[in-house]
Amino acid sequence: MKPLKQHTIWGLRGSFILAATGSAVGLGNIWKFPYITGENGGGAFVLMYLLCIALVGIPIMMAEILMGRRARANPIMATAELCEHAGASKGWTTIGWMGVLAGLLILSFYSVIAGWTLEYALAALDGKFAGLTGETSQALFDGLLADSDLMLQWHSLFIAMTIAVLALGVTRGLESAVRWMMPLLFVLLLILLGYAIKEGEFVTSLRFMFSFKLEDLSWEGAQIAMGHSFFTLSLGMGAIMAYGAYMPSSQSVGKTVVIVAILDTLVALVAGVAIFAFVFATPGISPGAGPGLMFVTLPVAFGNMGAGLVIGSVFFVMVILAAWTSTISLLEPGVAYLNERFGLHRIFASLLLGTISWFIGLGSVYSFNDWSELQFLWGKNYFDSMDFIATNIMLPLGGVLIALFTGWKLRDEIILHDLKFESALVFRLWRPVLKFISPIAVLVILYNGIFPVLRAVLVE
Ligand code: PFF
Repeated sequence: MKPLKQHTIWGLRGSFILAATGSAVGLGNIWKFPYITGENGGGAFVLMYLLCIALVGIPIMMAEILMGRRARANPIMATAELCEHAGASKGWTTIGWMGVLAGLLILSFYSVIAGWTLEYALAALDGKFAGLTGETSQALFDGLLADSDLMLQWHSLFIAMTIAVLALGVTRGLESAVRWMMPLLFVLLLILLGYAIKEGEFVTSLRFMFSFKLEDLSWEGAQIAMGHSFFTLSLGMGAIMAYGAYMPSSQSVGKTVVIVAILDTLVALVAGVAIFAFVFATPGISPGAGPGLMFVTLPVAFGNMGAGLVIGSVFFVMVILAAWTSTISLLEPGVAYLNERFGLHRIFASLLLGTISWFIGLGSVYSFNDWSELQFLWGKNYFDSMDFIATNIMLPLGGVLIALFTGWKLRDEIILHDLKFESALVFRLWRPVLKFISPIAVLVILYNGIFPVLRAVLVE
């Protein structure tokens, strides 16, 4: 099977790894992972999470890369091409279509939260965290949530930043952006870690994150770990497939995916350890604060420690970079499709799709203030409804379909050809895992994501 057309391939070694890690490392790692770890008992949760990354995340990520790279096209055209080649039903192109749609939906609310990090980076640089207490910090955050104009401004700016990178092209925009943003992100993370070791309650934090207590293992924690392993690796929506189209054929898929998964996990763990080291060093605040950990608890820690101004600024700039390299991957599948299918220039393609996503995101901005009482899906406000549809339904569904398609439908010759650089073990294990284990695990994620809501609706 020939690639669809002459396609851009990133020339520099490591670009694919940086781009895929950029997509994977985001708010999920720095905002969500630490607080769900905090809420689910620490070490036991981390262990389940690692297991899910290995059993579900890595095989599906390999599948996505393989599909994108084989067809050298955006997810919609790649799935169409691979279906035709395999003689499979056109219905499998749902993978590509749903992926592009999920990307637009996730971007719409992700950029609202990413927008908060712009406000918080400025607040940190401005010294606004100095002397914050639990109450004043909560008031600062509530003030932002109540101010829809301010949130709209930051949401718009974040979408504009995303459009700007994609409009510049696959090499000059995407590749160049990840080549400076990702190293900078790693440096900032190391600064935070260094400070946490020197000044924070580092050992307490380590104990909290890694001490393993059997009684902390819960089915609920396992479900959250599974769902999160999916979101954090950006799987199920074609982002990694779209990037796979730019990956050189000579690069080993297995090794690359393991590196990306390790980097993604390391960032989550290091960010978590640093955050808790700061939190434990500050009297009067606790690690189990839920979603408010990053925007309410942490600023109190920054506002009450020695180099808080610098460290707080470093932290929020790092989060901006992490979120930015993720938002570009959310929009890329759609932009690549419009460009490759209709010849639409990437400037117009990214403007068009970015604007659509911006528009869908308006509801998320208002669901924290003017629309907070409005219910959309089953008693959920607009923001939670979008998150639910995309994260709990579309991503796992996309993941199951990708696993089933590559596991059962893709021709052996493609697998043999594209995995020729892999070790014998990867070669032998990968397909059976994809055929049986990954789909079942992801179906569990899907079921657990939907079932509680269905039950609540039925009981009503
Ligand atoms: N992996 C990102 C995070 O952990 O924040 C979120 C994400 C980005 C999900 C891109 C899906 C995606 F395609």
